[in-house]
Amino acid sequence: MTPLLDAAEQLSREELAVLQLERLRATLRHAYANVGHYRTAFDRAGLRPEDCRTLADLARFPFTAKTDLRDNYPFGMFAVDQSEVRRVHASSGTTGRPTVVGYTQRDLDIWADVVARSIRAAGGRPGHKVHVAYGYGLFTGGLGAHYGAERLGCTVIPASGGMTARQVQLIQDFRPEIIMVTPSYMLTLLDEFERQGVDPRTTSLRVGIFGAEPWTEEMRREIEERFAIDAVDIYGLSEVMGPGVAQECVETKDGLHIWEDHFYPEVVDPFTGEVLPDGAEGELVFTSLTKEAMPVIRYRTRDLTRLLPGTARVFRRMEKITGRSDDMVILRGVNLFPTQIEEIVLRTPGVAPHFQLRLTREGRMDALTVRAEARADATSAQRVDAVRAIASAVKDGVGVSVAVEVVDPGTLERSVGKIKRIVDLRPH
Ligand code: DLL
Repeated sequence: MTPLLDAAEQLSREELAVLQLERLRATLRHAYANVGHYRTAFDRAGLRPEDCRTLADLARFPFTAKTDLRDNYPFGMFAVDQSEVRRVHASSGTTGRPTVVGYTQRDLDIWADVVARSIRAAGGRPGHKVHVAYGYGLFTGGLGAHYGAERLGCTVIPASGGMTARQVQLIQDFRPEIIMVTPSYMLTLLDEFERQGVDPRTTSLRVGIFGAEPWTEEMRREIEERFAIDAVDIYGLSEVMGPGVAQECVETKDGLHIWEDHFYPEVVDPFTGEVLPDGAEGELVFTSLTKEAMPVIRYRTRDLTRLLPGTARVFRRMEKITGRSDDMVILRGVNLFPTQIEEIVLRTPGVAPHFQLRLTREGRMDALTVRAEARADATSAQRVDAVRAIASAVKDGVGVSVAVEVVDPGTLERSVGKIKRIVDLRPH
């Protein structure tokens, strides 16, 4: 039997810190020696890789932002010769050039290892069948999950995204224990199970490994109840690796353990850039510790969370992501995240877990309409009550007035991958 914890998961905090510092110093040297961007940035800050003598010294080094990757499009951030690059991935982003990332063979091996570790932490075991419904292609979700599941010794069903009716058929016929998919696409699958007259609680699925977008405890409860599975969170981003940077353990479901032997986390004040103590909320920043093809130094994720001590593992945890600073809506001076609305919508009787946020402009004021879908069995009285309940919960909980519409079942567009919650109809 494969052991439940690999060697790095059994290190003490002290041993881990020694390993991290050694790897950090090697990464800084590698980045400085081989990437023009880092050489210039370190020189400008008056720093040499050798100036990093403790883990805390990392805070003296400059941040890296998505714009740095864009400015060096496509391969300018690579630290190895192109012949050493075995694969590239890219994320489209909403504007401008895509961000391109690259991997050596060793990077791909480590990636498969950390995803295997993630699936194991989620309750996956060798011999399990894993249905991968993350998109395959330039997006890191599909291939990242795929090679990790193979590395663990699972049987992979590479379904990719889309063709929802067929996905349901495959789950019925192939009987996977595990599904890896965005939480919003899991809801699309839920609809399809019901449309086909199959009770989603009767499938072979035992565990869902959900990520690539923010989702809340309320969503966890909804998915766990409707499918009778354990739902756990997986986090990652292409710039740092892909899925498998951090993973929630099924035995505790208390936030995501960051695989700190490969990815060094910091949380900083998003405005001042100052490093915050563990426990304080801010922007998550990552430094890769073992990457060859594209090391990243203090990469600003824009994801907001807190660092917490480890529980099921020695590694520190990050709390479930509240949202991205890019997805924050500022409405009459009040900051609002789609996850706050998700919590409210999912607590409201008669309303399905489908919602959309519409931003419009009335005169000089921005206005937000929460459009939520009625459950199929909701009465008209329930629908009227839901409008009031959502509006007052947003007013009380978030502190801002919004309009609410409860629309007919099946009205709102369904997700096939990462869902877009905000529809911005304001004139630009
Ligand atoms: O979404 C990698 C991934 C694939 C993670 C599959 C998990 C599962 P990108 O397309 O580069 O990579 O997008 C990264 O997605 O900065 C977060 O804003 C968001 N994100 C990813 N995982 C989570 C999560 C993949 N578990 C961006 N919770 C990140 C909240 C997440 N947001």
